[in-house]
Amino acid sequence: KLFRPFNVVVDFETGNLTPGKKITRYLSDIQHFFLDKEKVKAVLAKENPLVYEVIYAEVPEEPGHLAHCTTIIYPGKVGNEFFFTKGHLHEKLETAEIYFTLKGQGRLIMASPDGEECEVLEMFPGSASYIPPSWSHRSVNVGGEPLIFYCIFFADAGHDYATIDKTGFPKVVLERNGEVVVENNPNWKK
Ligand code: PA5
Ligand code: NI
Repeated sequence: KLFRPFNVVVDFETGNLTPGKKITRYLSDIQHFFLDKEKVKAVLAKENPLVYEVIYAEVPEEPGHLAHCTTIIYPGKVGNEFFFTKGHLHEKLETAEIYFTLKGQGRLIMASPDGEECEVLEMFPGSASYIPPSWSHRSVNVGGEPLIFYCIFFADAGHDYATIDKTGFPKVVLERNGEVVVENNPNWKK
């Protein structure tokens, strides 16, 4: 059958994408990744903050199609560690992705499958970050406003979250004396 062309509209200020399908991630969904376990517990005892939202254009998850979405990471920290996305590999490792930042300031942590190689790119309005095939990716909001970016990827790429659940990422992004710093993750497991 013939798939019909269609528009979605992206609001650069809010990250809203319409029509779209929204998913939400709360601190409880990503709590195991944070370094300071006591701080996580203390925050969750009071509230369960919304960390990020993803809004997908509805596209068939089939070869040849391009999936696209916006991600909105809210500003916040647990202790000195900035809010971030879960992060994943693509199930189809050979598929690349592009993140185009619309608003805010961030870092994009990427690692090779064995974790031996790790790169951290700056995300800022106008940055188009290329995530090559095979690299795991996680984005981090290092600013005081929402970090909003637009993503394009192969619709049949698939998300592998299980690997990251086990290993984490080799690097963490923290605030030290008002500065954004990238450090080795002491909890990273190869
Ligand atoms: O496809 C992507 O890489 C992004 O759209 C992410 O899915 C999005 O930023 C949310 O991150 P995650 O899927 O790791 O929770
Ligand atoms: Ni991806």
